[in-house]
Amino acid sequence: MTINIAVAGKGGVGKTTFTALLLRQMLKKEKGSILTVDADPNANLNEALGLDVDMTISQLLEDTKDPKAIPTGMSKEIYVEYKLQQSLIETEHVDLLVMGNPQGPGCYCYPNDLLRKHIEQLSEGYEYMVVDSEAGLEHLSRRTIPKLDYLFVISDSSARGVRSAGRVHDIIKNIKTPIDHMGLIVTKTQDQGVDVLRQEIENTQLNLFGHIPYDERLVKYDMEGKALFDLPDDSPAVKAVDEIMKNLNL
Ligand SMILES: Nc1ncnc2c1ncn2[C@@H]1O[C@H](COP(=O)(O)OP(=O)(O)OP(=O)(O)O)[C@@H](O)[C@H]1O
Ligand SMILES: [Mg+2]
Repeated sequence: MTINIAVAGKGGVGKTTFTALLLRQMLKKEKGSILTVDADPNANLNEALGLDVDMTISQLLEDTKDPKAIPTGMSKEIYVEYKLQQSLIETEHVDLLVMGNPQGPGCYCYPNDLLRKHIEQLSEGYEYMVVDSEAGLEHLSRRTIPKLDYLFVISDSSARGVRSAGRVHDIIKNIKTPIDHMGLIVTKTQDQGVDVLRQEIENTQLNLFGHIPYDERLVKYDMEGKALFDLPDDSPAVKAVDEIMKNLNL
């Protein structure tokens, strides 16, 4: 059975960074084959991983909207499936699917079912699927993922950020996707850690999985466009993610 992991939270809190560091540790520990899905319309997980992306799923599916683009004798369904197969980016470390930005309202409407089936079938071939979610949790409410083993709700280290994570929690409660382990990760913490945020964290009713300190080296890597995969083992953020994974037996 594939272990499904998703990372959620509002914009800019550190989802992609956490996802990249999680993947880094999974690879280090040779956990098994990994499919990673960048579900953010403004996709940039590939950059954090140091991978090039030519085409997103949205761009590939865009073609299928034009009846003239479908080769004669081919059904639209087969054509969409063919396009989806083309969208997998295979590397020696992880395989990547990039959803991209659906152009126009309801762009995914028709292919949504097929997309869901495709991801479900594709992910069966991997031991892990890791999804860097978009802020609106669209794909969770669309049930692109049938069940989740781990859901990480990310917040930055502000009271407002934690409250917002609480609202993400409320949205998730109303989604019928079954979730085994769900918890909060507070990122970019200062020396005092999460002490001042205790009450806010309690209010979210989320389990605190851990926190990740503000990491100067990580910021420098991001500024220079370097892959976060290449951060050294003793980098504070890397160590914190490692600790969180150990606590969760992940
Ligand atoms: N532990 C950390 N220490 C220092 N800076 C961090 C840390 N985690 C994330 N950041 C910085 O915060 C910014 C936002 O991070 P990131 O892109 O991971 O957030 P996101 O939630 O994926 O954002 P978006 O919603 O735009 O996709 C980046 O500039 C990143 O370098
Ligand atoms: Mg992101």
